[in-house]
Amino acid sequence: MHAEAAPSGMERADAWSVRLLRVVVMMVALSRRSAAEAPPQFQIQPTGGIVPEGSTKILHCRASGDPQPDYRWIKDDVYLGDFSSNNFYKIVSASKQDVGDYSCIARNSVGSVLSNTGDVRVAYIQPIAAVQRALLSAKAGDALVIEPPPIDSYPESEVTWIGDGEFIFSFTRRKHIVTLQNALVILDVGATDAGVYSMEALNPQLGQAQYSGNVSVTVDGALRSRRADTREPTSASRTLTELDYPASATAHLTVHEVPRLGGPPLHQTKGEVGKQVLLSCEADGSPAPYVDWYRNTVNVSAIRTGRYTVLVNGSLVIDDLKVTDTGIFQCVASNVAGETTDYTWLRVERSAPVWVALPSNMTVLDGEDVTVVCKVDGAPTPTVTWKFNGGGTGSGKSSVCITSGEVCTGHQKHDGKDVSSSSHLQILSSGDLFVADVKQSDAGVYTCEAANELGSVTASAHLTVTVWYLPVHKSDSNQTPKVPLIVLVL
Ligand SMILES: *[C@@H]1O[C@H](CO)[C@@H](O)[C@H](O)[C@H]1NC(C)=O
Ligand SMILES: *[C@@H]1O[C@H](CO)[C@@H](O)[C@H](O)[C@H]1NC(C)=O
Ligand SMILES: *[C@@H]1O[C@H](CO)[C@@H](O)[C@H](O)[C@H]1NC(C)=O
Ligand SMILES: *[C@@H]1O[C@H](CO)[C@@H](O)[C@H](O)[C@H]1NC(C)=O
Repeated sequence: MHAEAAPSGMERADAWSVRLLRVVVMMVALSRRSAAEAPPQFQIQPTGGIVPEGSTKILHCRASGDPQPDYRWIKDDVYLGDFSSNNFYKIVSASKQDVGDYSCIARNSVGSVLSNTGDVRVAYIQPIAAVQRALLSAKAGDALVIEPPPIDSYPESEVTWIGDGEFIFSFTRRKHIVTLQNALVILDVGATDAGVYSMEALNPQLGQAQYSGNVSVTVDGALRSRRADTREPTSASRTLTELDYPASATAHLTVHEVPRLGGPPLHQTKGEVGKQVLLSCEADGSPAPYVDWYRNTVNVSAIRTGRYTVLVNGSLVIDDLKVTDTGIFQCVASNVAGETTDYTWLRVERSAPVWVALPSNMTVLDGEDVTVVCKVDGAPTPTVTWKFNGGGTGSGKSSVCITSGEVCTGHQKHDGKDVSSSSHLQILSSGDLFVADVKQSDAGVYTCEAANELGSVTASAHLTVTVWYLPVHKSDSNQTPKVPLIVLVL
């Protein structure tokens, strides 16, 4: 049976494996084709919370990204080991030492990002140390204060006093008060107040209590036993205001609000070499949050380039961009209520010069000023060089070569004057060429060349100078008409 069925099963399996192989090959091909880098982006970030002492807490981080990010854990600004693929951090048998702010860094070849912080708190209560004054005596009619022993607990314990084995609730018998500091105050001490007192501290998180030692109270001049006494405090009793304990307290209500980041998140910001970029971090919150910037999880204040400035409004300005500034810029806005973070992948790129405005043919009147346009964009900012009539190619005409940069390989003379110091010709910061008080001799071909390390562009324009009057020379004045004449000089 089994042997008979085997061949057809194998055939089917072969067909399947061929199909599967095809799918795998296709997927590999596809993944190759779509191999675009992507910065790490968190999908799961560590969450804190209160964990009972002795229990296990697992912190989790996960980020997408291409290549696949790896992770590094941080506790209170201290690294917990090196980068690895391990996106879990396990706290085994939590203790007070594990309390802290945990975060992780996700890193790939694009850069690194810091996660949110998870505050891990450990709930515990320590046994209460023995009371120092186990014997107290009070005079009848006085008030007695029993100080609580120190309690080491997180979160804060709820304290209840016990008198002769019974819980004392201040609302049931108006002669007991528990102060804000957990001291027990017995008003108008009477014979019935003599006895053994102790304190229970209950950790509300753990539901676990610790007990203080016993304090024995004796009352001088006491005659009757406690159990027989049922009287309420009389008007002769000392009033609360005579005691040094606050009967009321003032509470300041402060609303704390976790920072919020305004504006749409910009997952990518393009920057160009040599330019400036402003990365904003519009943070709101109460109290007003402060903003820290990180580049690949390094505090930018530690990057001493002098080109990074954090503005008062939280924005980060980077001047004179360099390709090496490329990375993940993360802003963390924090206040007492918490922190919020966002980031952008800054990609600083070079680009070859491209035309913004080409020089165009122009006709101007003799004596006017003219600007020959040459606007280019590029990163780093292209250097503009102007050449006149081919830049001294020996045509016999005057030529010019001036540059916005330091270097000019062409002729430095125009009309016998040094061009760089000439007010007649100037390259404006835009790259345009300004010619003041145009003369006939300025007519010609102006060539603008804009170049940076990635390439160059060149364009020319003809400047035509229109002269209203022919030059009048004494020698040939009789041959020259005195009426205005338009002469085009090329
Ligand atoms: C405290 O006193 C109570 C009774 O008053 C007694 O049961 C208990 O054992 C005492 N505790 C200690 C620690 O001495
Ligand atoms: C922050 O200040 C800079 C410079 O004053 C400004 O350009 C930028 O728009 C401001 N950003 C925000 C978010 O207000
Ligand atoms: C980042 O650097 C600034 C300036 O030195 C500092 O005030 C801030 O505390 C640092 N932030 C962190 C989280 O270390
Ligand atoms: C500019 O003038 C020159 C010479 O007159 C001519 O060859 C060229 O085509 C003109 N260019 C434009 C854009 O008009």
